[in-house]
Order: sequence, then structure tokens, then C-alpha cells
Amino acid sequence: MTSGLWQGAYLEVHGLTKQFRSTIAVNNLSFAAPPGSVTGFLGPNGAGKTTTLRMMLGLIRPTAGTATVGSVPFTNIADPARAVGAVLDSLSLHPKRTALGHLKVYAAAIGVPDTRAREVLGLVGLAEVANRRAGTFSLGMRQRLALATAVLGDPPVLILDEPANGLDPEGIAWLRDFLRSYAKRGGTVLISSHILREVEQTVDNVVIISRGSLVYQGALDALRGANRSRILVAASSPFGLANALVAKGITDAHMVPDGRLAVAGLTKEQIDSVARSAGIEVFGTALDSVDLEHVFLQLTSGQFAAQHAPPPQTYSPPPGYYHGPTDGVPR
Ligand SMILES: Nc1ncnc2c1ncn2[C@@H]1O[C@H](COP(=O)(O)OP(=O)(O)OP(=O)(O)O)[C@@H](O)[C@H]1O
Ligand SMILES: [Mg+2]
Repeated sequence: MTSGLWQGAYLEVHGLTKQFRSTIAVNNLSFAAPPGSVTGFLGPNGAGKTTTLRMMLGLIRPTAGTATVGSVPFTNIADPARAVGAVLDSLSLHPKRTALGHLKVYAAAIGVPDTRAREVLGLVGLAEVANRRAGTFSLGMRQRLALATAVLGDPPVLILDEPANGLDPEGIAWLRDFLRSYAKRGGTVLISSHILREVEQTVDNVVIISRGSLVYQGALDALRGANRSRILVAASSPFGLANALVAKGITDAHMVPDGRLAVAGLTKEQIDSVARSAGIEVFGTALDSVDLEHVFLQLTSGQFAAQHAPPPQTYSPPPGYYHGPTDGVPR
């Protein structure tokens, strides 16, 4: 079924904006998802992901801006089911129709042979339940059937809204392999999620939005690199050290449960130097690997902007944190 011309296209969004009465759901958003890769479209609940995808697919009209597939607006594509496969809302299924029956209806609608319906059931791992009524399917099976429906026309572009929802860990691993091989064939895959960890192993690039606006776009590896690993510092007075760092404009320092201070953005030598000038002894340091979820939360919670604001004058330990005679540092 795969044609020799099968290859993905750039998905591009320029200045996309959607206002619902007083709510600006998407605000002047621009990004691109390249072919041959999986792009994660990330943001917390309510960030504007579904609204953006709906505009890209021509399901709702943008207040401003454009979205194109290979430079063509989606609504102008002659044979959309063969160009773009999309899964947005949960699939509307006739509960009494079998999985195969459901797919055959769609296959007829887009003009692909019935044999393709069986083929895609195999692709999504539902071959064994081909003749079961879809009304008896679990959420994960419905997700797979939705995906099978989206790929019926063998489209080189896939747009999926929260495809990992309802999948168990094995299902998530299967989805990852499925999407990675799609991209490896040259396809363009854009998947949304509100959980970076859920798609971390699947995506090459990320587009992160918060409150309708872009906060980061680039390779996932670059996001890791841009947010250097933290250094965990055991010091005679972690609070004193935190205050000394804040006084130098370093606000990304916080206590971890074992009483050490986690500091980002400074080398071990720089931390030693700040500690020395504050009369604080450093007992030891250790490199901590990047917690991407922490980075994601920082980017989307408004703390990112706060990092560029003037630093607060004092450091407050997290509520309930123990700071007894030794400041909690094991000696
Ligand atoms: N039809 C609508 N009318 C009014 N407001 C809407 C409409 N659709 C979405 N919104 C608002 O737009 C904002 C973005 O919603 P959207 O569903 O795009 O977010 P999302 O990133 O997909 O969130 P989630 O992770 O929960 O799916 C929200 O504030 C939402 O309430
Ligand atoms: Mg959504």
C-alpha cells in the first residue's frame, strides 16, 4: 500500500491565535514539526494543545494565523485522509460494529480496499479481536483502533492528541515503537501530551506551550543540555549557602529531602567560591542528572519568567522542612 512517493511534509504553524470570548486559548503561536521525526507538543492541562491541533486540521477557524502541511493549508489538501492521519477526540464507535467492520466503513469512505482494514488491525496489534464488537473494547483498545483508523490511508503525516492516554506501560512502549518506525520511514509525527515523561522516549523534538504561548521549541537533547545537571551540595549551612547564592542572583537552588542543596547553573568551583566567601564549609558535592520533568514544570509554571526577575532577598525552606541544629546535613 505504501507508494514510492511516501514521505512526510513539514507541519508549520505561523502566528496561530484563537480567542474564545474572553479566553485567549492560543496566542500568536509559531512552530514547525519536520518530517522524519516525532515531535512532542507539550503543555499542562488547558495550555491550548487541542485547540491548536483542531485549528491545524481545519476543524475550527483561527482568530489569526495559519497552519500548513507541506506549505498547503489543511483545508486545501485534495485527499486529506491519505495525506494526514489524525486522532483527536475519542473515536466515535458504533458499539455493535466489530473492529473490522468499523474499519471497512472508513476504508470505503476514503476509497481504500478492505484488505487494508485487516492490514491496519495487524499493525496496531488488534488482529486477534478483529471480529469483536467495538463496544466491548477497553480504552487502550479503542486508542489502538482510533490509530488504525487514522493510518488507513497510509498518510505520511500523523497528528495525535494525547495518544498515550489510557495505555498501560506495555501499550506506551508499543506506541513508541509504532511512531518511531513511522518517523523512520520518513513520516511526520506530531503528538501532544501533558506529561513529558510519557513521551520522553518517543520524541526527537519538543514544542512546549504554556497558557497558549510558546515557551520552548527544539531538540529534546538540547533541552537536557540547556538545563545543565544540578550539583548537590552538602554544606555546614545549606540555608546560609542558599542565601549567599540568592545574593549573587542564583535563584535555582533548592533543598532536596536528604538536606543537600541542589544548585543549577554554577560549576563546583563557583559554588565553593561563594561558600568560602560566606564562611560556609562544603563537605562534598555530587552531580545530579537532569530531571526533565522538573525542567518541564519550570518552563510551564511561570517559574521560567521568574528566573529572569530580580532575585528574592531571602531564601525560605519548603514548608515542613526540618532544620535542626545541624541544618539536617549528615556529618
Ligand atoms: N470551545 C471552547 N469555548 C471556550 N473555551 C474553550 C473552548 N475550547 C477550549 N477552550 C479553552 O481554551 C483553553 C485551552 O484548551 P485546550 O483544550 O486547547 O487545552 P489543552 O492543552 O488541550 O488541555 P488538556 O491537556 O486538558 O487537553 C482552555 O482554557 C479551555 O477552557
Ligand atoms: Mg487537550
